[in-house]
Amino acid sequence: MVLGEFKVNKLNRIFVEKHYKIAVIGLGYVGLPLARLFATKYPVVGFDINQNRIEELRSGADSTLEVESEVLKSVLVDRNPFKQNENGFFASSDIQDIKEANVYVVTVPTPVDKHNRPDLTPLYKSSETVAKVLSKGDIVIYESTVYPGVTEEECIPVLERVSGMKFNEDFFAGYSPERINPGDKEHTVEKILKVTSGSTPEIGEIVNNIYKSVIVAGTHLAPTIKVAEAAKVIENSQRDINIAFVNELAKIFNLLEIDTHEVLKAAGTKWNFLPFKPGLVGGHCIGVDPYYLAQKAQENGYHPEIILAGRRLNDSMGQYVASQLVKCMIKKDISINGGEVLNLGITFKENCPDVRNTKAVDVIHGLEDYSLKVTTFDPWANPEEVAHEYGLTVANEIPDQKFDAIILTVAHQEFMSLNLNDYLKENGVIYDVKGILEDCDSRL
Ligand SMILES: NC(=O)c1ccc[n+]([C@@H]2O[C@H](COP(=O)([O-])OP(=O)(O)OC[C@H]3O[C@@H](n4cnc5c(N)ncnc54)[C@H](O)[C@@H]3O)[C@@H](O)[C@H]2O)c1
Repeated sequence: MVLGEFKVNKLNRIFVEKHYKIAVIGLGYVGLPLARLFATKYPVVGFDINQNRIEELRSGADSTLEVESEVLKSVLVDRNPFKQNENGFFASSDIQDIKEANVYVVTVPTPVDKHNRPDLTPLYKSSETVAKVLSKGDIVIYESTVYPGVTEEECIPVLERVSGMKFNEDFFAGYSPERINPGDKEHTVEKILKVTSGSTPEIGEIVNNIYKSVIVAGTHLAPTIKVAEAAKVIENSQRDINIAFVNELAKIFNLLEIDTHEVLKAAGTKWNFLPFKPGLVGGHCIGVDPYYLAQKAQENGYHPEIILAGRRLNDSMGQYVASQLVKCMIKKDISINGGEVLNLGITFKENCPDVRNTKAVDVIHGLEDYSLKVTTFDPWANPEEVAHEYGLTVANEIPDQKFDAIILTVAHQEFMSLNLNDYLKENGVIYDVKGILEDCDSRL
């Protein structure tokens, strides 16, 4: 519904008079950096259901390592900043603390279930929370990665039902996908151009202006919420498919005994050859988001072929890497049953503590299936989290012993300075999943 002139004027007036009071719902990898950034310019209350997370943030610490302690402390305030209308960030798990917000930004997880179907539970629950405190004229902006239609067809009905208010008359919505890359200290939230959208053209302008006021790299106002939702989910699907293609090439070239990395280096001298590398695709985004798009396509009668083939291929890589390492060991006459392997890295990517959906676990299980004994060392991962999520042990130091094989699974900066031969038995195997070691027996 297009707003009448009266309503637009009223809305603009509300926002000029009230100023933005922003509540960020979900303070994880995405929510915290965004809340911190908004807090440099606006009163911000960050809301999370995880009380431990609230306590650590209040003390100025961020266990995701996305926001440095000093940076976080520079915006922290010790009372609700909405009351005094002062800029700053206040973390809370009390719903009363977000009551006075007029802009709600939702950054909760969007996982898949064990059948790889989208699990919208956190989005439904957080929408219920927002709906309980929603006031007339408020805007609810979703940032979580979804398939096109989730904001308007799944979240808005919850907001209407619980608040009793009418969409695009009493309250409004927006969608602005997050593009941050965990562990990346160069492309931080303010330096990544942000796609924005609103539930009406006027709300689109307001949403766009809110982000434009803090995002140095600028914004792109998409014409509709569905366009913005689709844009995000295809960014990650495209990346997944491109990596699947080079993973397939790696499988082919390994059979042909050609070095894949050398092939890619040679092909990469052409200006329009895309520089993707083979590897494990884990984490909360690239290995998950294509399933969101696939689900929506299937609901509408189209069975996606390339998207799901890419997922299958990438999901097979952990087992494949394990079998490749075992082949190398057999070629060197190393006994497999009870053989000792040092696995370097368990997080889903380098220089980041995130272990969600990490495919290093598939490598470890694959090696254990061959009766190899695997010791994992990772200076970034939290051992308790790994034990809780995967039932695996992570060493904080490399044990003082020599191994039959060493596999570099994650390229943490700490591993670059290790002399791997110090930990390797004579005639042992070094396998390089990331293709970065100068000296190795084999690589993906
Ligand atoms: N991590 C990334 O690199 C990245 C990048 C771009 C987009 N995304 C997308 O952003 C969204 C959030 O991802 P994330 O990595 O920040 O997740 P996360 O798991 O790090 O953080 C989510 C936070 O939301 C909280 N939460 C869960 N349910 C809640 C509820 N009902 N009310 C309030 N808080 C709740 C959790 O306690 C947690 O602190 C996802 O949709 C993800 O796909 C993530």
